[in-house]
Amino acid sequence: MSAESPVIAIAGATGAVGEEFLRLLEERRTPFRQLKVLASARSVGRQLSCGERRLAVEELTEEAFAGVDLALFSAGGAASRRFAPVAVDAGALVVDNSSAFRMDPAVPLVVPEVNPEAIAGGARLIANPNCSTILMVTAVDPLRRAFGVRRIAVATYQAVSGAGAAAMEELRRQTAAVLAGERTEARLFGEPCAFNVFSHDSAVDPVTGRNVEEQKMVDEARKIWADPGLAVTATCVRVPVLRAHAEAVNLTLGRPATEAEARAALAAAPGVQLVDDRQANRFPTSLAASGRDPVLVGRLRGDESQAVEEAGGERRFHGFDLFLAGDQLRKGAALNALQIAEVALSG
Ligand SMILES: NC(=O)c1ccc[n+]([C@@H]2O[C@H](COP(=O)([O-])OP(=O)(O)OC[C@H]3O[C@@H](n4cnc5c(N)ncnc54)[C@H](OP(=O)(O)O)[C@@H]3O)[C@@H](O)[C@H]2O)c1
Repeated sequence: MSAESPVIAIAGATGAVGEEFLRLLEERRTPFRQLKVLASARSVGRQLSCGERRLAVEELTEEAFAGVDLALFSAGGAASRRFAPVAVDAGALVVDNSSAFRMDPAVPLVVPEVNPEAIAGGARLIANPNCSTILMVTAVDPLRRAFGVRRIAVATYQAVSGAGAAAMEELRRQTAAVLAGERTEARLFGEPCAFNVFSHDSAVDPVTGRNVEEQKMVDEARKIWADPGLAVTATCVRVPVLRAHAEAVNLTLGRPATEAEARAALAAAPGVQLVDDRQANRFPTSLAASGRDPVLVGRLRGDESQAVEEAGGERRFHGFDLFLAGDQLRKGAALNALQIAEVALSG
């Protein structure tokens, strides 16, 4: 493999994540010898841009991976299951955004700020975690490293773009229709998405009551941290926002910490930006996170409903609350995948 100037393929280049890959390759000045943009037969011949380059979309086929060094997959689970093994056999390093291989014990599930060591084994197929999970573990990991984490309770406020480019279009169209006084119909989601907050559109397990997104946050957090007993509970909800998910997180730490200690751990963390101005009531927002790399973290406060130790004028909290916002098309998808590839190709 030519790691210094690889041939890169993006499978799903016309989608919401694919578009972000193209933007990030240009922004990060990622070196490559050739860039192949692949999508379904519907998009063949469409022109995409990566900086100054104009690229013609080719069909995603088994033959498309000949000579490819790095294949970035964001074309859905079915396409990944079919074509990712073909790309690996053709000699490519594959980073997959779908959920197809995430829980496969042989496939590393990686957030580079959190478990970069999982890349070191030389796997040729690496899975990118679910977007809500990536944002949560990036924000919580600095506290986990410093104090341990015993339990996480999270509620998400998820942008519609988590469901792809067509979902952004649906929110725009429905919003315009409502403002024009017209009737709207729910198409992609089971509910209207304009001016509405509703339970995540993934299937609900009839026995546990958890939806697929909530189960992913539990299972994937445990795998990333190699902590199968970690207590995690999630409630996943969509909000009428175009991009950038937000999450309210309540933690129980392994060892109690002062607010200053918890704040210092977050302030020093890679991939995290503290936005926590109590005086000005300025905290993370989905708009401020949109189009940006870091996960914005704020509203950090000791949880008075859990044990508090008071000694020498200091208060040490066993639990903390925080609020985060992060662009799930970037850190939650394309950026994280590219960071994985950068680490893997440099090793
Ligand atoms: N959106 C997010 O925030 C996010 C975050 C993390 C992970 N992901 C995952 O990333 C993947 C893509 O998501 P997205 O939001 O970018 O979806 P999207 O906007 O709907 O784009 C889907 C892409 O996949 C292509 N595609 C679909 N079926 C195909 C097939 N049978 N053969 C070849 N290409 C096919 C589409 O090509 P055409 O344009 O030709 O149809 C398009 O390029 C999904 O697995 C999703 O779960 C998404």
